[in-house]
Amino acid sequence: MKNPFIYGVTVTGEYFTGREEEMREITSSSLSGQHIVLYSPRKMGKSSLIEEMFNRFKKKQGKEVVAFRISLERVESKEALARLIINKTVENAYTSVEKLLKDAKELFSRIRVRAFADMDGRIGVEPFFADADADAILEDALELPEKVAGKKGIRIIIALDEFQRIEKLGGASLERLFRSIMETQKNVSYIFTGSEKHLLHMIFGEKERPFYRFAKQMELAPMAKDVLGEFVISRVRATGKGIDEEAVKWIVAFSEGIPFYVQCLCHEAWYGSESRISPESVRGAMEQKILPMLSAGYSIIWNRINGSVQRKLLIGLAKDDGLIRSGERKVYSKEFIRDHDLTSSASVRKAMKALDGMDLVYENRISDFFFRDWLKNQALE
Ligand SMILES: Nc1ncnc2c1ncn2[C@@H]1O[C@H](COP(=O)(O)OP(=O)(O)O)[C@@H](O)[C@H]1O
Ligand SMILES: [Mg+2]
Repeated sequence: MKNPFIYGVTVTGEYFTGREEEMREITSSSLSGQHIVLYSPRKMGKSSLIEEMFNRFKKKQGKEVVAFRISLERVESKEALARLIINKTVENAYTSVEKLLKDAKELFSRIRVRAFADMDGRIGVEPFFADADADAILEDALELPEKVAGKKGIRIIIALDEFQRIEKLGGASLERLFRSIMETQKNVSYIFTGSEKHLLHMIFGEKERPFYRFAKQMELAPMAKDVLGEFVISRVRATGKGIDEEAVKWIVAFSEGIPFYVQCLCHEAWYGSESRISPESVRGAMEQKILPMLSAGYSIIWNRINGSVQRKLLIGLAKDDGLIRSGERKVYSKEFIRDHDLTSSASVRKAMKALDGMDLVYENRISDFFFRDWLKNQALE
């Protein structure tokens, strides 16, 4: 039988739950031409939300709206990004090579393309960038969606996922290029998503940056506990197994509304139990499956951490996480510094900044809950 829970990839359809309110708001903004920045820590469900929302568009809006997601996560160069934008645009907006070739002269100015249909009937293009420079190619690619939208009389919605990566691809000058093209487009709406809050705030929130006030900012919040709880119960039941109420409670409490943890814990617990998931099977999944699986990677991270202050701080954050979360304990307090053998609040601040830069902490808590528990176990050994 197929495991009813999936983690680590974008999920849609029956593997997806909730987020109705968010989808409504993003949909209505995008349809009216409002650009959006959607941010949250990793694993909150941004990519899944976008994919699911776009799938629903396809059913509802028919041919008037074309929407697709481009992930910048693994894009290594401006040329690669240009290729991706061009191919995603034609693949989603065109259904025949002939039509595309007919329009091609108007659609592309600096580059030449060869168009083809692949085995699944998907339309693709092989762009030739013989002598054009990377910025010129990207300019052509960025102008393409508006040209297609205008020609076809449709709206195009493009989600640029993990958009903060443009920092690495080209910094401020690339931002300027994007902005100058995007601001003239009438029929394309953009959804920029990202996981690195400080980077996104810099890109969209600093006065001197090209994207200042270009898009409406939305933070994707954790999901409601009852929504996640019901999802867990119904998914387990659909496979003919059962789950104890206490187990559901434990999973949902541990996850703090972050869907990734729910799916990961449930996937492993479902797999590891015969007919009923008990609190013991969930803890077993965690201790015997999930943490051992992640342990090698965590050891590497741990060994890369410089300095005893950073290490002590991590252990302290792991041990006191519950108290820090409830506000009973402050990280820069005398008690915290004393209990974890740290020296001064200034040195804790410095270490915190370093850990933040490595994405290991988020708002004074360890961002990966499994890493937190792994650290707690390490400290006990
Ligand atoms: N709405 C949802 N319903 C159920 N599970 C979800 C949902 N959104 C995310 N998930 C789970 O969380 C994981 C991470 O989601 P993802 O969309 O990749 O997050 P992000 O893009 O914010 O990093 C997915 O692999 C899936 O297991
Ligand atoms: Mg994502």
